[in-house]
Amino acid sequence: MAVTKSAELVIDRGEDVWVWDEEDRKYLDATAGLWYTNVGHGRTEIQDAVKTQMEKLEAYPTFNDLANRPALELADRLAALAPVDDARIFFGSGGGDAVDTAAKLAIAYWEKLGQSSKNVIISRQNSYHGTHGFGTSLAGIEPNRVGWGPLIEHTERVPHDSVEATAAAIDRIGADSVAAIFVEPVIGAGGVIPPRPGYLEGIAQLARDREVLLVLDSVIGAFGRLGTWFGVERWDVQPDMIVFAKGVTSGYLPLGGLVVSGRIAEPFWGVEGNVFRHGATYAGHPTCCAAALANLDLLEAGGLLARGRELEVPLLEALAPLAEYEDIVEVRGGTGLLAAVELSPRLLSSLPQGALSFAQRMRSADVLVRPLVSAIAISPPLTVTEEHLRLIAEAIAWTLREVDR
Ligand SMILES: Cc1ncc(COP(=O)(O)O)c(C=O)c1O
Repeated sequence: MAVTKSAELVIDRGEDVWVWDEEDRKYLDATAGLWYTNVGHGRTEIQDAVKTQMEKLEAYPTFNDLANRPALELADRLAALAPVDDARIFFGSGGGDAVDTAAKLAIAYWEKLGQSSKNVIISRQNSYHGTHGFGTSLAGIEPNRVGWGPLIEHTERVPHDSVEATAAAIDRIGADSVAAIFVEPVIGAGGVIPPRPGYLEGIAQLARDREVLLVLDSVIGAFGRLGTWFGVERWDVQPDMIVFAKGVTSGYLPLGGLVVSGRIAEPFWGVEGNVFRHGATYAGHPTCCAAALANLDLLEAGGLLARGRELEVPLLEALAPLAEYEDIVEVRGGTGLLAAVELSPRLLSSLPQGALSFAQRMRSADVLVRPLVSAIAISPPLTVTEEHLRLIAEAIAWTLREVDR
């Protein structure tokens, strides 16, 4: 904060894969905002849907028996698309509050079944699950966990890529004490780490065997980033819940939520007196839902959804040659339209603010990327072309030569 307070980059407008700052300088948006502008900037279809809804009913709550048509329509549409049995939708405002909803729902589910000892939640090292209470406590990025005083006690971290170590952790804690495991299909903010072959299927099988709920955090992975609606259809896994946000509206308005399987919803819907005392002010916000409906139309049209998969190899191939630079430790990606370029400790320590400084220097090459702890992340809109991917790789190479001078 101290460094940026007098040096902001003020983004003024956007169109497709491009944004402009207030000085009218044009940048390639290689991050799709914050991994969310999946359909690209400036889509009039979403603008029009929002305006029409605003003119009719801008907002109204959905507590108790209250509902509105866009929220009902969106819930039906998402439930039909989700790879979850008898899916139900719980809306919120973004990814972080949906993570907390999932954690509370997992614990409440077991409690309703008379198993209140099942209240530990497992997450993976390097994972990111937002900034709310549970999300902070579940964080696998260590710097995100410290400095906040005591976190929620009943959480446990396991290695990000080992089914065996996860099984051992569940057995050590006792399966009768574990409520759920949270898994990003591709770890995002923790460094863009795709799952190794068999990992997700192995975790799904383990969760089934030990009667632990499987919560897929697809806040980044859904709505085309991995080439499918919820990012998990590429693997043979049946999650109990899926967390979504970001790409559901392509970020045009804030919206997040949960897909919940009928089995998990049953104790709340099916038994009178079983209340889930939890809900956010803007849950089912009609204007946000109208934006989402228009966004889903755009993802459906012209095969845009599948671009996340079609472009995964071209993105990795464009970036792979960067690994030859001495200051690049690794290029990761290949599963969906997202990748990371890991910077060497030498380079990171030579820059005043590590990866952030590298990303800032890349602006001189007219490309915006996202700094992570020790890498830069690339996750452009699904509307990018292979030519854009080449420009991103060139900008990184140019910046590497610049910082080496
Ligand atoms: C996997 C994952 N979960 C949760 C979140 C939190 O979402 P939000 O920032 O909308 O609260 C994020 C945000 O980047 C995320 O990447």
